[in-house]
Amino acid sequence: YRVKQSAFVQASTRVSDCPKDGLPEFAFVGRSNVGKSSLINALVQKKEFAETSKKPGKTQVINHYLINKSWYLVDLPGYGFANVPTDIRSTWNTFTKGYFLRSDSLVCVLLLVDASIPPQAIDLDCADWLGRNRVPLTVVFTKCDKTRKKVDGGKLEDNVRGFLRLLKKSYDQMPPWIMTSAVTNNGRDELLQHLYTLRTY
Ligand code: GTP
Ligand code: MG
Repeated sequence: YRVKQSAFVQASTRVSDCPKDGLPEFAFVGRSNVGKSSLINALVQKKEFAETSKKPGKTQVINHYLINKSWYLVDLPGYGFANVPTDIRSTWNTFTKGYFLRSDSLVCVLLLVDASIPPQAIDLDCADWLGRNRVPLTVVFTKCDKTRKKVDGGKLEDNVRGFLRLLKKSYDQMPPWIMTSAVTNNGRDELLQHLYTLRTY
């Protein structure tokens, strides 16, 4: 499950402008600063790959990256910017949720969750919304290299366990979850294999 080839395809400002070739899509979403760009770069093994095509400013864009000419890694706008209330019902809503509900090729949403901080309501809200709308979800914990440090009053393992425990309130059957680090590349192969498995269903 190697990424042999990766290329930026397009930045769409409307869901209706997204590629329509029917290739499977995996969407990456998460709070700003969760480590989304870093994880994408780790997956494709290119430095600054995710950043190069990112539009500056507050433009809400859906970035499509074609991997091995056979599937898309879709980079969605992050949520939870500093001065936005703990609430995902904002512009993020109509735009990103529109993508979730209207993309026929969407195989799974990868919700990135920062394992170095305690469970955040905004991430749980997002997971809950995806569950209620029957959008397939995989939780991808990021920054899992921070194991030995005590961060924000809790250990990484406690943060992960705590998040999964709270997630149970929204899910009868727990979604798959994977622990990753863009620093050590831990979990990268597991994540790629997971995507490959989902794609063959
Ligand atoms: P925005 O695009 O600004 O929303 O952020 P992002 O989600 O793309 O996060 P980004 O990849 O830019 O990383 C944010 C910060 O977290 C940077 O300082 C990274 O170096 C750091 N970071 C990202 N991934 C990891 C990781 O796996 N381990 C550690 N220790 N730090 C990480
Ligand atoms: Mg980024």
